[in-house]
Amino acid sequence: MRTAFHRVIAIDGPAASGKSSVARELARRLGFIYVNSGAIYRAITRYVLQHGVDPDDGVRVAQTVESADISCGLENNESRILIDDVDPTDHLREDRVNEAVSRVSSVPQVRQILVAKMRSYACNHDLVMEGRDIGSVVFPHTPYKFYIDASPAVRLRRRAAQGQRDEIAARDRADSSRRASPLIIAEDAHVIDSSNLTIEGVVAEILNRLKLKGLK
Ligand code: CDP
Repeated sequence: MRTAFHRVIAIDGPAASGKSSVARELARRLGFIYVNSGAIYRAITRYVLQHGVDPDDGVRVAQTVESADISCGLENNESRILIDDVDPTDHLREDRVNEAVSRVSSVPQVRQILVAKMRSYACNHDLVMEGRDIGSVVFPHTPYKFYIDASPAVRLRRRAAQGQRDEIAARDRADSSRRASPLIIAEDAHVIDSSNLTIEGVVAEILNRLKLKGLK
């Protein structure tokens, strides 16, 4: 994506690996915009469910998303999405969204529409964007790619501590095995195992690495 004029730090990784906290703090420290691409997939999943569409019916999912009015904006230096003028932010972690999001996200037309929206953020802003395919597909040419992992036990514990029912192993399996933009470690990504690190520790490692790469 050589049309992105601004700098993009891509942070990918599996569910509950700590990406969101790290990406938000990193963006704050650098003065960049924070974009949570998972929240965008979650928002569209809630929209699909609210329209009574079966998340396994790829054709209807695609039609529903194609007809939605999706507006990706900013609030307090973070991405904020409105669909048909409704802000779904408070509902993105509902059980039914956790359960359906990987299936809705596996529909290629859905990804095509949402990836275009995500790329448009980089036209005007420096970004920290987190997700599953940011370094591999959304911004493959950025020199700043990180993959944050943690052991399955640590990730389960982190999600449980957030008080959520979330089958993260099932979601990881689905995200890693889908045909469209699966979760992979981009070839040139710097991998960080956050199992025994604090958020601050991970952010410090990323900032060090960015300095070595010449990011000012
Ligand atoms: O925060 P958590 O790790 O639970 O996941 P998330 O980042 O909110 O992403 C929720 C789901 O959206 C993932 O399980 C993927 O199915 C999908 N997703 C995706 O397909 N591509 C992305 N770039 C980000 C999320």
